Formats: sequence, C-alpha cells, structure tokens
Amino acid sequence: MTNKDSESEKGVDEQLEQRNGSAGVTGKRQKVKAHSKKWWWVYLILFIAGVLIVTLPIIYVGFPNIAQNGVNKAHLEVTGLEFYNPTPDSIQVTERIITHNPSMYTPTLDPWSGGTFVVTNGTYSDKAIVYLPVPKTHTLHPLSNAAIVNATVPINDQAQIALYATQLVKLEKVTTALVGKPLLHIGKLPAIHVNYNASTTYSGMNGLQGFNVTNIRIDPGNTLLILPNMNGTAFIPNPSNITADLGNVTFSLKDPAGVEVGVALIENMLLRPGDNNLPLVGMLNQTLVIPALENGFINLTITGTDCIYNGKHIPYYEAALAANLFHLRLNVLQILKDSLGI
Ligand SMILES: *[C@@H]1O[C@H](CO)[C@@H](O)[C@H](O)[C@H]1NC(C)=O
Ligand SMILES: *[C@@H]1O[C@H](CO)[C@@H](O)[C@H](O)[C@H]1NC(C)=O
Ligand SMILES: *[C@@H]1O[C@H](CO)[C@@H](O)[C@H](O)[C@H]1NC(C)=O
Ligand SMILES: *[C@@H]1O[C@H](CO)[C@@H](O)[C@H](O)[C@H]1NC(C)=O
Ligand SMILES: *[C@@H]1O[C@H](CO)[C@@H](O)[C@H](O)[C@H]1NC(C)=O
Ligand SMILES: *[C@@H]1O[C@H](CO)[C@@H](O)[C@H](O)[C@H]1NC(C)=O
Ligand SMILES: *[C@@H]1O[C@H](CO)[C@@H](O)[C@H](O)[C@H]1NC(C)=O
Ligand SMILES: *[C@@H]1O[C@H](CO)[C@@H](O)[C@H](O)[C@H]1NC(C)=O
Ligand SMILES: *[C@@H]1O[C@H](CO)[C@@H](O)[C@H](O)[C@H]1NC(C)=O
Repeated sequence: MTNKDSESEKGVDEQLEQRNGSAGVTGKRQKVKAHSKKWWWVYLILFIAGVLIVTLPIIYVGFPNIAQNGVNKAHLEVTGLEFYNPTPDSIQVTERIITHNPSMYTPTLDPWSGGTFVVTNGTYSDKAIVYLPVPKTHTLHPLSNAAIVNATVPINDQAQIALYATQLVKLEKVTTALVGKPLLHIGKLPAIHVNYNASTTYSGMNGLQGFNVTNIRIDPGNTLLILPNMNGTAFIPNPSNITADLGNVTFSLKDPAGVEVGVALIENMLLRPGDNNLPLVGMLNQTLVIPALENGFINLTITGTDCIYNGKHIPYYEAALAANLFHLRLNVLQILKDSLGI
C-alpha cells in the first residue's frame, strides 16, 4: 500500500462518514476486523514479546533482587552451640539457629557451606573459623528453626579458632557471621544463588565469673606430691547457651608473687549452660604455700595451661584458657581444720 493509496482511502472514508454518519463507523470496524484477520499473528508476536519484556526482567532481575533483599532483611539468632570431640585440626559442632524472616516470601535454601567468621567490634575477620554444613532449610514467616547437629568440621584457621574460643570464654557478648552463597528456590521460579551474610550476637561465658572451689580437702601428710594431696569441687557458672567438652584440663595455681605453688586437674571438663560443679584434684606444695599465707589466707591466680583430649593438646582451647585468669582467695587454715576434722 502506497502513501497515496492510503491517503485517498482516508479521503473516501471521511466522505462516507460525513454522508452516512454512523454507517461510517461500521465500515471502519469491518476494516479493522479485516486488518486484524490478516495481521493477527503480528499482534500475537507483539503481545508475547510485550509479556516477556515485562516478565523476564521480573523473573531474572526483579526476583533475584527481591530474593536477595529478603535474605538481607532476615535476622539470624543463635540459640545454642555445642562443641564436642575436639582434635587439634577438627571439631564437632552443633549450632541451633532461629531465622527471623520479616518478608512474606518463604524460600527454600538448598544445603550449603556456611563460613563462620569472628566479628570483633563490627569488623569481620578475613578468614573463617570453620565452614559449617548448613542443611536444607525452608524459611517460614515470621521465624523458622534450623540446626546443624554434631557436624565434624575441619578447623579452617588456627588463629581464628583460638580467637573465637578466647572470645567465647572471656566476653559477655560474642558476634559471629555466617557467610556463603546458598541456592534459593521460591515455588516454580528459577533457582538463584543469593549472597548470605548474616551476623549474630549471643552470650559468651563472660570470664566464667563466680568461679570458686568449694569442699577443699588437703592431706598434710602427703608432701612428696606423688599423688594429689588436695581435692575439691570447682564451681563454674556458665551464663551462655554454649556447651564445650574441654577434656582433661590442668591449671596452674600461683601466689601473689607469681610463684607456682601447685597445680590442679579437672578430668573430662564438660561445661554446660548454667552452674557446673566439677571434681578437682590438685597438688599443693606446702613448702611454698606456707610462706605465702597472710593471716591464714592465700590469694591464688589460676590459669588453665594444658587441655588434653584423647592424648592430644588442643591448642585453641589452651589459648582461650591461658587468656582467662581466675582469682581465688583460700582460707588455708580453715581448710586444714576441715581436712583434719578439728
Ligand atoms: C538461650 O537460648 C534461649 C532460646 O533457646 C533464649 O531464650 C535465651 O535467652 C538464651 N540465653 C542466653 C544466655 O543466651
Ligand atoms: C572493642 O572496642 C572497645 C572500645 O573501643 C574495646 O575496649 C574492646 O577491647 C574491643 N573489643 C575487642 C574484643 O577487641
Ligand atoms: C553430639 O555428640 C555428643 C558427644 O559425641 C553427644 O553427647 C550429644 O548427645 C550429641 N548431640 C546430639 C544432638 O545428638
Ligand atoms: C559481609 O558483610 C560485612 C559487613 O557488611 C563485610 O565486611 C564483608 O566483606 C561481607 N562479606 C562478604 C563475603 O560479602
Ligand atoms: C567460695 O566458696 C566459699 C566456700 O563455699 C565461700 O566461703 C566464698 O565466699 C566463695 N567465694 C566467692 C568469691 O564466691
Ligand atoms: C579428698 O581428699 C581427702 C583427704 O586427702 C580424702 O580423704 C578423700 O577421699 C578425697 N576425696 C576424693 C573424692 O578424692
Ligand atoms: C616444693 O617446692 C620446693 C621449693 O621450691 C622444692 O624444693 C620442692 O622440691 C617442691 N616439692 C615437690 C614435691 O615438688
Ligand atoms: C588478697 O585479696 C584480698 C581481697 O581481694 C585483698 O584484700 C588482699 O590485699 C590480697 N592480698 C595479697 C597479698 O595480694
Ligand atoms: C582424661 O584422663 C583420663 C585419665 O587419664 C582418661 O581416662 C580420659 O580418657 C581422659 N579424657 C579425655 C577426653 O581424653
């Protein structure tokens, strides 16, 4: 159709319209109908293209953004941690997590490897402590539970696990982050990898404040120290939700001058949340204790020196224990009286 043709047609149309009034409209409709019959496939293609132009970005750009925003807004809460069977280069971890999901999207995350990073005063460590196998989780609104149960994982970095163990023992609040790229699904939409990077703050052991040793008995006849000459009950309050099996822990007992006057051992030291009462045995060198007495009392500084599990030193626990000092004021005269039953 040339321009001229269409112009002349238009002219005829107008004339018809002017003459016949509404009859012109009917003519136009028929023309439109005829045009549609001929060109329907063009309209169909344009319609499909339009739908795709609108929906593809939603699926491939908008949906990943929505999914990523949802993941960013989710808040992670660690409700329990358990550490068992430590070896110098691996540890068995249980981590219980609540995910708070403010969004109405309830995606599923495939199993993924979550790097756990220490966050010190808001700054992420550059290396992960461990990589945890996070199981497949279906996130619900407003919250859902997930757990990594007794996963034996290699230590990723010795300095980071030593830092983490030290913070767990010493600090009132500890922050770690779970970082990775899980595959996310919502319904039938294409699965996408999202950046997961959630930090969470929880209670640490706060220096195990309140540490004490009660029911101490001394055997004054045993001065050769071939066998323990002291025993008692270590009272260790743990204000966190963290369980740690430390194995056989040896402590050094020092007087105010810094002289080691004895050693103590807690066998199979398993710290659970709440108050722990663990049997303790020790060897006190009376030759050194007696001159350090002050009105029958001695102030001891106690530090964990060795942490041995299945015959192996656990360096990261030893670092944590060495960084934490306990102070204990002992009434040695009273202990002697109790021990001799006088
Ligand atoms: C321990 O976890 C529970 C939830 O399981 C929580 O309510 C409580 O505050 C936690 N306690 C500490 C000291 O973090
Ligand atoms: C965090 O910062 C405070 C104040 O600057 C400081 O006292 C504290 O030692 C820092 N904590 C750690 C774990 O470095
Ligand atoms: C994890 O393992 C420890 C020791 O191997 C065991 O005492 C504990 O019950 C286990 N925890 C779970 C949840 O199975
Ligand atoms: C996670 O977020 C923190 C703080 O926003 C940032 O420093 C860190 O580089 C992020 N890590 C990754 C792997 O995206
Ligand atoms: C430790 O225990 C003893 C004996 O039960 C008690 O007299 C003492 O006050 C306790 N010390 C602390 C610091 O709690
Ligand atoms: C603690 O020591 C006393 C005195 O040496 C001894 O009689 C007692 O049997 C010991 N108790 C334990 C549980 O070892
Ligand atoms: C106790 O300490 C004294 C003085 O340092 C030392 O001579 C003695 O050998 C020690 N006793 C034992 C059994 O270690
Ligand atoms: C021992 O500790 C008590 C109470 O903390 C303190 O008053 C005393 O001066 C200390 N004695 C020595 C010798 O450090
Ligand atoms: C602690 O020492 C005792 C006695 O030597 C031993 O039977 C036990 O297996 C040790 N515990 C660990 C966790 O290594």
